[in-house]
Amino acid sequence: MARRKYVVGNWKMNGLSASIADARAIFAGVAGHPAVDVALCPPFTLLGAMAAVPGAVVGGQDCHRAALGAFTGSIAAPMLADAGASLVIVGHSERREGFGESDGDVRAKAEAGLTAGLSVILCVGEPRDVRESGSAIDYVLAQIAGSVPDNFDPQRLAIAYEPIWAIGTGLVPTVDDVAAMHGAIRGALAGRFGAAADAMRILYGGSVNGDNAAELLGAADVDGALVGGASLTSAKFLPIVEAAAVLG
Ligand code: PGA
Repeated sequence: MARRKYVVGNWKMNGLSASIADARAIFAGVAGHPAVDVALCPPFTLLGAMAAVPGAVVGGQDCHRAALGAFTGSIAAPMLADAGASLVIVGHSERREGFGESDGDVRAKAEAGLTAGLSVILCVGEPRDVRESGSAIDYVLAQIAGSVPDNFDPQRLAIAYEPIWAIGTGLVPTVDDVAAMHGAIRGALAGRFGAAADAMRILYGGSVNGDNAAELLGAADVDGALVGGASLTSAKFLPIVEAAAVLG
């Protein structure tokens, strides 16, 4: 089936209120590419303001597994929805590694997001030593097995394959390696969810920029990109959206 291309910007811990001007420029440019789904995930503090930008689709970068309660400093999925978010990223490697999140935690967060009516981008990806040892596919498929929930609308859950060694480094896997990984992920999803897996989008993330986007997005089973550094300004982000639009 034809899956719409999906380009998502992850601002990480970047952005003050002045950065809403960048989001405004990004969504103004995105309006010219209606065939591509585009979203930005700013820090929680900017969600409400960014959601008010014309044409904006915004998401959170994480959520708690609980819907409310005594969890100082955390944000629940219904709060994201209430602030105007329509999606949430879960299981980013900076959460898995920096905050000790297990596959079980990521699964619970994905379930919390889906229950709150959000769509979910669930991240997986191997560290460098695993890639070098030749077991990257086994590693990522184990993450998929442990962190993807059971019951959900396949249109509402996307996987982002982000090799950890490619994030923020300027290094990218070969297009063949990306296609092999995405094909393996698609196969695992099909094994578990049958034909419904066809509707699930699998994004690539890790040092995507305007120069490499066309090649990466053109690889088999790559349905979009999760973009960090190059998502902060329209000058860097819109060329990636344009590359996705050309591939349709
Ligand atoms: P990067 O980050 O594009 O800066 O490599 C990607 C990500 O962490 O999602």
